[in-house]
Amino acid sequence: MDPIFYRDERVMILHDDILTTRAISENSIDLIVTSPPYNVDIQYNSHQDDISYPEYLEFTRLWLTRCFSFLKDDGRFCLNIPLDKNKGGQQSVGADITTLAKEVGFKYHATIVWNEGNISRRTAWGSWMSASAPFVIAPVELIVVLYKKRWRKTSGSGQSDITRDEFMNWTNGLWTFSGESKKKVGHPAPFPIELPRRCIKLFSFVGDTVLDPFLGSGTTLIAAAMLNRFGIGVEIDASYCELAKRRILSTPELLQHTLPTGNLDAAQDH
Ligand SMILES: C[S@@+](CC[C@H](N)C(=O)[O-])C[C@H]1O[C@@H](n2cnc3c(N)ncnc32)[C@H](O)[C@@H]1O
Repeated sequence: MDPIFYRDERVMILHDDILTTRAISENSIDLIVTSPPYNVDIQYNSHQDDISYPEYLEFTRLWLTRCFSFLKDDGRFCLNIPLDKNKGGQQSVGADITTLAKEVGFKYHATIVWNEGNISRRTAWGSWMSASAPFVIAPVELIVVLYKKRWRKTSGSGQSDITRDEFMNWTNGLWTFSGESKKKVGHPAPFPIELPRRCIKLFSFVGDTVLDPFLGSGTTLIAAAMLNRFGIGVEIDASYCELAKRRILSTPELLQHTLPTGNLDAAQDH
């Protein structure tokens, strides 16, 4: 079955499984920006989000391995993951996934702490006002910045579009902006466009190819297209692919760009 759900001159949505897709060439991607399932029992249509922790780490290893092969040698990877998890047993998810990524072959650059300021997500205090077993959880997420072989970027247009103020603010690894509303977007776990926007402007050149292996509602592709990069997104659920397509086609800034080309060849032709 042809996995290309939608394609125009700026974006391509693949209705596919990132673990098995054959639609993306090896060594073809400049930047990956993604937020994988967190295994915190979110009700996705087509993905079970409450597997055991060892199973979750095995799933993570498999998709990280695929992403590693898709990146160019100077390709970068911005991985949005939780710091900790306390639902269904405490785990150092951020540390564990970072370790796995290094085992898979990624090189480590830095960790950005995203201060979401979302304290409403707290589900438990542990022992209330007692030292017997209190729970501590930080209202932050991580954006782990990794790369394949070389940090210095030599491929691509060489053209950056970041402003002086953006560069100064965003190279400070504490980013503060709010999370996205699930209700507004119509997806159970969207990130705000500010997250891929910053990653794309800071870590890629104009004209680069950006991949999101867990596309969800399409946020990364909207940001990529708005910033004149080519975006490829993989999403296992057809209704989320449809949502992503609808969001792209209704983004006012992209209206002049969304003329279907009719060219349905896969990423390797880009
Ligand atoms: C955390 S959400 C991503 C949300 C996205 N950043 C956004 O802004 O909407 C993870 C997505 O991964 C999808 N997914 C889960 N397993 C997948 C797989 N094996 N291949 C591709 N997509 C998958 C889920 O359906 C879900 O939409």
